[in-house]
Amino acid sequence: MPRDHSTKKNPQDLRSARWFAPDDLRSFGHRSRLMQLGHAEGDFRGRPVIGVLNTWSELNSCHAHFRERAQDVKRGVTQAGGFAVELPALSLDESFLKPTSMLYRNMLAMETEEMIRAHPLDGVVLMGGCDKTTPGLVLGATSAGVPFVYLPAGPMLRGNYAGKTLGSGSDAWKYWDERRAGNLTDEEWVGLQGGIARSAGVCMTMGTASTMTAIAEAMGLSLPGASSIPAVDAEHQRMAAACGRRIVEMVWEDLTPDRIITPAAVRNAAVVAMATGCSTNAVVHLIAMARRAGVPLTLDDLDALGRTTPLVANIRPSGQKYLMEDFYYAGGLRALMKRIEDMLDTSCLTVSGRTLGETLEGAKVFDDDVIRPLSNPVYHEGSLAVLRGNLCPDGAVIKPAACDPRFHVHEGPAIVFDSYPEMKKAVDDESLDVGPDHVMVLRNAGPQGGPGFPEWGMLPLPKALLKQGHRDMLRISDARMSGTSYGACVLHVAPESFVGGPLALLRTGDRVRLDLPARRLDMLVDDAEIARRRAAWVAPAPRYERGWGWMFERHVSQADTGCDFDFLRTDFGRAAGEPEI
Ligand code: FES
Ligand code: MG
Repeated sequence: MPRDHSTKKNPQDLRSARWFAPDDLRSFGHRSRLMQLGHAEGDFRGRPVIGVLNTWSELNSCHAHFRERAQDVKRGVTQAGGFAVELPALSLDESFLKPTSMLYRNMLAMETEEMIRAHPLDGVVLMGGCDKTTPGLVLGATSAGVPFVYLPAGPMLRGNYAGKTLGSGSDAWKYWDERRAGNLTDEEWVGLQGGIARSAGVCMTMGTASTMTAIAEAMGLSLPGASSIPAVDAEHQRMAAACGRRIVEMVWEDLTPDRIITPAAVRNAAVVAMATGCSTNAVVHLIAMARRAGVPLTLDDLDALGRTTPLVANIRPSGQKYLMEDFYYAGGLRALMKRIEDMLDTSCLTVSGRTLGETLEGAKVFDDDVIRPLSNPVYHEGSLAVLRGNLCPDGAVIKPAACDPRFHVHEGPAIVFDSYPEMKKAVDDESLDVGPDHVMVLRNAGPQGGPGFPEWGMLPLPKALLKQGHRDMLRISDARMSGTSYGACVLHVAPESFVGGPLALLRTGDRVRLDLPARRLDMLVDDAEIARRRAAWVAPAPRYERGWGWMFERHVSQADTGCDFDFLRTDFGRAAGEPEI
């Protein structure tokens, strides 16, 4: 039955009232346990109970400020008459987790959904930011269906070393190539190490983290402007408290996620992603998030938006110069959205209770080089293109703005690697027979093959090529790549080779052709030969025999449908709901 949103909720209608209101033995237990924590009856009874889902951990440097920030959120909840409880949620940090944080995105999503459903929560503030935490939290909270606000961690300060500004990820790759080419001393290398990440907050390039928080805000899931505020700016504390105040109102208004994540809101998020020069990972997560909300977003929809949306955020790695701190000073995401307002559906409702258009009123761009005018974009089309062909019948993605234009139409012989260690050994071999036209291929690196769809897609350039002075080459894999990566990298080849996608049939020496304007990626091998190879192909043994990996491998979908689990799909069946116990 559709929910009735026409009236404000009464205290007895709160979800938490089922735990705390009845005069029975179980409710007596629930109330007495909150009193055990030092709360008086009046602190929680009849008030919205707000879960503050905090992905803090001492192994998540991007969320280092979340312990204090949770206090700011709670302060806001109390100010608005709610009752705040902080709960830990799986802290997926991007830098330490092996084999890859992507193996665990769906674990966070499941945890979020089940913890919201199982606890007496009327509304939730989700605290995330580091890459997979945004989609993980949002996927779970969407399925749980209670009102929520997303509080992004915010970007860290610009990196700095020896008078040079450093960008997360991008500069690490760049200087690593210089080190491998023999151009950096040990001292310089250690100096870079200390200077590239100087404060709490997420990577400050337009990597996956800032792409995903921009997507969440554009979709209406964060308060206006929240995604651009640097983590250590005092405004971030004020924003945290504002989230706390607002979620209490949202509970009374019954402003549930199904009213916010509509097809138009998903489209807005995709347009904004393209205009910001988004990470390729955005494709996978946005598709998953849309589908959880019942919006059947496809790769083709994204390619179509990519063709019509100019890239206006001049932020690295797609932009040339600036970082997230500059973006904030230039007006941030609200200013960017104001600039492309004509491409957005401004009637979409946001968690603020106002329409997107209303939240953009008064937004201004303060620096036209950081947020470019439509007449002078960084790139005339959006940041992503979707390819198809006999190597990727279900699609592959490439970031045209981040690769040397000479690769946009390119043909060359393949060098194929079956595993990361095999490839690593070969690229360090200075006698490797490789030229600038070669196409380097890594397979068995997809959702099941990786396992977990690791960020290996920016394959390291062979030393032999670096020494010849080259800094880019065409690379193809069924892996993802970091949002801070760059180069002529074709990613997310679907179906992946591990499950028998055509990439599994490619051999070293076969010619491969990329035609970006035509959106094609093909191996120039005739069909009869491909059929022969297919008949001889033997499926590899599963990667896992037990545990989470076993479950992941059996239920994860391919890249083109967002890598969600088949049994978490919105159309899979009804959630168990809330049994009367
Ligand atoms: Fe956390 Fe990049 S490592 S956002
Ligand atoms: Mg990343």
